[in-house]
Amino acid sequence: MCGITGIVTEKSDNIGELLVKCSRKLTYRGYDSVGVAAVRNNKVDLRKDVGTIDEVNRLLGLSTMKGDRGIAQLRWATYGAPTKVNAQPHFGCQEVFYGAHNGNLHNYFEYKAELIEAGHVVRSENDGELCVHAVDKYYEETGDMFEAVRLSAQDLKGAYAYAVGRADEPEIYAVKMGSSLVAGVAADATIVSSDLPSVLPLTNNVVYLADGEMLVLTHNDVKVYRIADGKQLERSPQISNVDARAAEKGGYPHFMLKEINEQPKIAQDVIGLLDRPKSEEWLNLLENASRHYIVACGSSYNASIVGAYFFNRLAGLPMLHAIGGQFQSMYGDTLNDECLSILVSQSGETKDVLNVLNMIKKKDLGKSLGILNVIGSTLMFQADSYIPMACGYEVSVPATKTYFSQSIIFAYLAARLGERNGHIDPSEAKSFIKRLRTDLPSLTQTTIDRTGILARTLARTLVDVKDLYCLGYGFTDGVAREGALKIKEICYCHCEGMYSSEFKHGPLSIVTDNYPVIFVTTTEDSWMVINHINEVKARHGRTIIIGEYEESLQPYVVNKQDYLVVPKSDVLINPILDVIPLQLLSYYLSVDLGINPDLPRNLSKTLTVD
Ligand code: BG6
Repeated sequence: MCGITGIVTEKSDNIGELLVKCSRKLTYRGYDSVGVAAVRNNKVDLRKDVGTIDEVNRLLGLSTMKGDRGIAQLRWATYGAPTKVNAQPHFGCQEVFYGAHNGNLHNYFEYKAELIEAGHVVRSENDGELCVHAVDKYYEETGDMFEAVRLSAQDLKGAYAYAVGRADEPEIYAVKMGSSLVAGVAADATIVSSDLPSVLPLTNNVVYLADGEMLVLTHNDVKVYRIADGKQLERSPQISNVDARAAEKGGYPHFMLKEINEQPKIAQDVIGLLDRPKSEEWLNLLENASRHYIVACGSSYNASIVGAYFFNRLAGLPMLHAIGGQFQSMYGDTLNDECLSILVSQSGETKDVLNVLNMIKKKDLGKSLGILNVIGSTLMFQADSYIPMACGYEVSVPATKTYFSQSIIFAYLAARLGERNGHIDPSEAKSFIKRLRTDLPSLTQTTIDRTGILARTLARTLVDVKDLYCLGYGFTDGVAREGALKIKEICYCHCEGMYSSEFKHGPLSIVTDNYPVIFVTTTEDSWMVINHINEVKARHGRTIIIGEYEESLQPYVVNKQDYLVVPKSDVLINPILDVIPLQLLSYYLSVDLGINPDLPRNLSKTLTVD
């Protein structure tokens, strides 16, 4: 959604440099517009405009701004178009209160009308501005900044977090109500931010927060309070061991390519993490539930589909999967206290998923198991238990390594559960888990090495394509959807992911000479998929195949680059590997199209809005 950063430092000449350095790490959260409010000698210098942080910094000299405290905001537009006036931070009625928010206010229109009625000067169409006016309003009434911030939260309905200050007061205040917020204490400064990567350049001494809490930052101290009654809460900083380098490209042209290339190590790390006594707790949750659901969005949802196939095959367990926004209307009335809902979200902040978690907790509709990557996220704190994905920060907006990690976690859990409930022999389970542990990392690396060049060649032949399909069957159902999502996200062309047997029931009509259709196969299903390939070939469509090499498929390949061959493994490892050529294909096609795959237009890494 958006990224906010607030810093208070004892120095008085480099707040702009600090804010730009730290908030740049939040670029994946928003790049429609950027702004900085810097305070020096009790005067607020506010500069903001549309564009990425580097573009606006070049335009307005953000990093040269002076002062000892300030707030920066990177925006992904929801309320109000991405314009200069809607950019954040905002002032209150005068240039006294300054602040910025992340999230959205459900009572935006009525509260804006109420404030205007009361004489407030509201300049923008952006809901974040109302957070500042709410503090302005209560300061008028109480004359006290702490109370004004505390009381302001009661007016603001929705899921949000905001940072706010007053020109003539040294502190910065922050509120957490449904969107992510974390703080840090350095030797000579304190920081509050939407996400950990922007705290790490300053300190790894981290203060985690929960919803309904507010912060007061001075240059050397962060105090936490409960909003409801203003009571101070004991919350000591914890050392975070997240590697700050995760937010650097490490020599790659883009984070996306770096993160694809981290996958061999992730395969190793994830299995290492799962092969521990703690996984018994997760398996108990799975075993003791009478019905199981998986809830996720975007790439996490595509991984969940792959997961459903693993749970069916290896554990004989039906996994009802739904996207976050769909879940309540599709399954809400079937839930009861014996159910287990698996909530998959790499950020742990996707509101469509957290809405489901809130419903489950509010109505006591069973247990929740989070699968998440960001430690300290809302999902981590609020689920009954959670599985960390051990991927390190994923900076690129399109998910790659986190999707990969999720599919491995599902495969592992399904095998272990199948061993427990007798659906598969212990020997089969142990053999598969051994292949995951010992073969998958090297097979992943080989897949990257072998398909990278061909994917690059294939990409060049698709630069003029604006419409194509990506079809999966059985275990590669979710894989094909993920490949289609990658192409949509970063190549700006329409690519529909669907089940290959379904293609003849309507979508086949799109096929004309050389129309491209990608088929993602496993050795188990290629006998069936050949029928679907024939249906396209017979109408002179162009068939592109991804999967293990099979002689039977060779006649359907015209050009070498139209067959991205993954190394030989087995039907259970195939679907984990098959996503890699699709990741690489979408990456190279995006770059050929002159797009920055890390920051595709209109998108954001973490959507904390409905
Ligand atoms: C989208 C991201 O906003 O959210 C996708 O652009 C991601 O990459 C999706 O898959 C779900 O995110 P999360 O954090 O819930 O896994």
